[in-house]
Amino acid sequence: MKNVRRNKKNQAQILKACIKTPNHLEVRGPVEVRQGVHLDIGSNVIIGPGAVFYGDGLISLGNNVQILDDFMVFASKSAGVSIGDNTLIGPRCYVNDSDHEKALGSDIISQGIVSSPISIGKGCWIGANVTILRGAIIHDGAVIGAGAVVKGEIPANAIAVGVPAKVVKYRE
Ligand SMILES: CC(C)(COP(=O)(O)OP(=O)(O)OC[C@H]1O[C@@H](n2cnc3c(N)ncnc32)[C@H](O)[C@@H]1OP(=O)(O)O)[C@@H](O)C(=O)NCCC(=O)NCCS
Repeated sequence: MKNVRRNKKNQAQILKACIKTPNHLEVRGPVEVRQGVHLDIGSNVIIGPGAVFYGDGLISLGNNVQILDDFMVFASKSAGVSIGDNTLIGPRCYVNDSDHEKALGSDIISQGIVSSPISIGKGCWIGANVTILRGAIIHDGAVIGAGAVVKGEIPANAIAVGVPAKVVKYRE
């Protein structure tokens, strides 16, 4: 499917069409919603400048989600990305529910993708420059330190840091 860069006015209209309570979406600058993406946006959501939403799957943002600058998220039809209520995403985070298939014998660029859903729970805080890989499940209240790469599961209220992200302690 052809990706298109749409103008700022259209972007705002697209985002507004996706929210359940249309008066409470704050888009703080130019964002890109590529063709084919399905967005489901709760109320009272803030999206920082530079966000890019792409893929052909469902991206769901709960109520009171705040996403800071330069967020990039890809969701495939067979998986999807959900972000729970009251979660804060720091600047320059990258979330992708898919990997390229990489069997030996043909170039990766000509192979398909393999996808697993990503779930980021309620009340989480994702620090700056975090990458979240396919299949990641970040349970409610977890904190992910700046620069982490999340693979697999992070328990509720854990504080996890590093590459790959490991729990160093729990919120008290
Ligand atoms: C994760 C974080 C919240 C932890 O804060 P904290 O509870 O004060 O934790 P501490 O500083 O006691 O760190 C605990 C351990 O994790 C390490 N650590 C903390 N943050 C880390 C990070 N981002 N990457 C790698 N290691 C980190 C510390 O060095 C320490 O290790 P040690 O026990 O071996 O000394 C904080 O370090 C962080 O990354 N904040 C993100 C800030 C940000 O990106 N803001 C964007 C605006 S929303």
